[in-house]
Amino acid sequence: MPVGTLIQNGTLVTAEKTFAADVLIEGRTIKEVRAGIELVNGHEVIDAQGMLLLPGGIDVHTHLDMPFGGTTSSDDFLTGTRAAAIGGTTTIVDFAIQAKGTKMRGALDIWLGKAAEKACIDYGLHMIVTDLAGAGLEDMDELVREGVASFKLFMAYPNVLMVDDGTIFRALQQTAKNGALICMHAENGSAIDVIVQQALAEGKTAPIYHALTRPTKAEAEAVNRAIALAEIAGAPVYIVHLSSEDALNKVREARDRGVPAFAETCPQYLLLSLEDNMKGESFEDAKYVFTPPLREKKNQPKLWDGLKDDHLQVVSTDHCPFCFADQKVLGKDDFTKIPNGGPGIENRLQLIHHYGVGQGKLSLNRFVEITATAPAKIFGMYPKKGTIAPGSDADIVIWDANASHLISAATHNMRCDFSMFEGHRVKGNARQVFSRGELVVEGGKFLGKPGRGEYLKRDARGGAWQ
Ligand code: URP
Ligand code: ZN
Ligand code: ZN
Ligand code: ZN
Repeated sequence: MPVGTLIQNGTLVTAEKTFAADVLIEGRTIKEVRAGIELVNGHEVIDAQGMLLLPGGIDVHTHLDMPFGGTTSSDDFLTGTRAAAIGGTTTIVDFAIQAKGTKMRGALDIWLGKAAEKACIDYGLHMIVTDLAGAGLEDMDELVREGVASFKLFMAYPNVLMVDDGTIFRALQQTAKNGALICMHAENGSAIDVIVQQALAEGKTAPIYHALTRPTKAEAEAVNRAIALAEIAGAPVYIVHLSSEDALNKVREARDRGVPAFAETCPQYLLLSLEDNMKGESFEDAKYVFTPPLREKKNQPKLWDGLKDDHLQVVSTDHCPFCFADQKVLGKDDFTKIPNGGPGIENRLQLIHHYGVGQGKLSLNRFVEITATAPAKIFGMYPKKGTIAPGSDADIVIWDANASHLISAATHNMRCDFSMFEGHRVKGNARQVFSRGELVVEGGKFLGKPGRGEYLKRDARGGAWQ
């Protein structure tokens, strides 16, 4: 191992500025950032002439090795985090699931076990809360002490993950005290369930009915309710995988009143649509069955504007892959049995760089902010993660903004037999990726050892949200 690595001649991009700089890495961390750092004997030199230096991407919404819909998501912590690294993501936050009637600590241990020997990059965990009976509220405090600084609750999926408003409100009150963040899957699950049952009774079983039975108003209603409950409880709230203009309007209205409401969207809502990707009665459409569903194309420019104007703060993937041939097919005769979710962990930076920066919708700095810096800040990892600065972990992507890359299941590294972005040719890709000072990706190949990824204990913010 060299005593240090000097990345020379790059153009460094942070959320605030873009400037010419060298970066000196010593051990796991960044030692120095400035133009003209002198070379010391024994340092390895990497020439980044013509390249951008980006903070490693942070994907705060992934589901690896997750039991769901009668099967398990097809990427585990090895294949999923390896694909993430190849795409320039060096940190993920995945979701552990509390089984009803059990202690959250048990679920944390199960998910730490899933990741331990496999993770290729650093990972944090959110806890999905399914039940606050018994010692649930104390469990939340215990988890915060273990670095689980965020909890996800579901307003959808009745009889599976959905919780009632009382449970949501009690969880919000607890986070008002312990500084953690509640993440909400915001869709009105009860109303949607009625619409779904009516569709099935009419013989509407094709995948497209998954989308047609989940109106944007059902998302907007739940976003509005989640924010109202958070305001009453005096807690911040983070809306996950926001998909529609109707829902965005509720977040914007709250933020413009100064309410600490945050929201993410995902590449699939920015780039795919009912019109472009759903064929009608074809079972192929099952590839695009995820929740919330694909929306009408008219929502896309509103979501891009939301990212630009900071009404949306983060782009995550909601990576939850199920193979078409043996998993999506479980819903061949009934769309409600199609496992919900799609693959995306590898392509987030490529897609947002190409369609966001490349098409003039986002500045480079905003691109870095929504894919790394803001997720690090919101989820208690900053400045260890999410920026390139002295003292931060040396998670750095040497980004070739001109590299051309064709996205395809034939070449991607995710364990999934299709790509939602098949055939998209993007400009911009990771050339080299450093994770805690180690060169883990070069030329599209992962060089690190599975299991090298470390569990990240994240900080609860203690109410410092504005
Ligand atoms: O369809 C999706 N999004 N699957 C993953 C679970 C969730 O709701 O995030
Ligand atoms: Zn969700
Ligand atoms: Zn505003
Ligand atoms: Zn999800």
